[in-house]
Amino acid sequence: MGKVHVFDHPLIQHKLSYIREEKTGTKEFRELVDEVSMLMAYEVTRDLELQDVEIQTPVTKMTAKRLAGKKIAVVPILRAGLGMTDGVLKMIPAARVGHIGLYRDPETLQPVEYFAKLPQDIEERDFIVVDPMLATGGSAIEAIHSLKKRGATKIRFMCLIAAPEGVELLKKAHPDVDIYIAALDEKLNDHGYIVPGLGDAGDRLFGTK
Ligand code: PRP
Ligand code: URA
Repeated sequence: MGKVHVFDHPLIQHKLSYIREEKTGTKEFRELVDEVSMLMAYEVTRDLELQDVEIQTPVTKMTAKRLAGKKIAVVPILRAGLGMTDGVLKMIPAARVGHIGLYRDPETLQPVEYFAKLPQDIEERDFIVVDPMLATGGSAIEAIHSLKKRGATKIRFMCLIAAPEGVELLKKAHPDVDIYIAALDEKLNDHGYIVPGLGDAGDRLFGTK
């Protein structure tokens, strides 16, 4: 069963308070999302496998630990997920990056995939799906479904802010996926926005309306 990890680190909560603030402009918003993503990546990768390697320090030989070389791919959900990608890559620079684009059908309100480009060796990789917002859960559920359909087996999902409704649906749809959240908010409003949230993540990142 996948676990839900909510971060209570003071640095993350401090930066998130500025991300949430309406008066925070695009430049600062982008920088803060990048920084929080980097801090979260530290925790999201906590269970990566290590292997022993023999090295020579200036003083002596020793057995040290290095990452076991498990291949990782970061997958932003377009478009707002792009804002978290560089932060994660600062911690795991050799990771590949896949992209999944989704839009919400205005009639059915269901997410529809319009773009998917992923690394070729899908079965061998650990995936970290990133998106700042987990609201109804529809986008995350569909993106993870899309990865599994193509052969992914080990997937983590990482977001800044989640609504309880979205977390429950995601857990139910993909019980094998660990979910990493910087803040679990109160609820969704009638328009599917997270309350108190941060507004529209894509618009705030890219300065659109
Ligand atoms: C936002 C956000 C998530 C989605 C969350 O993207 O980045 O992908 O909404 O909502 P859900 O959990 O109800 O699916 P949006 O659809 O606004 O697209 P954008 O990233 O292009 O702005
Ligand atoms: N998408 C966003 O960008 N913000 C929300 O609050 C919900 C969905």
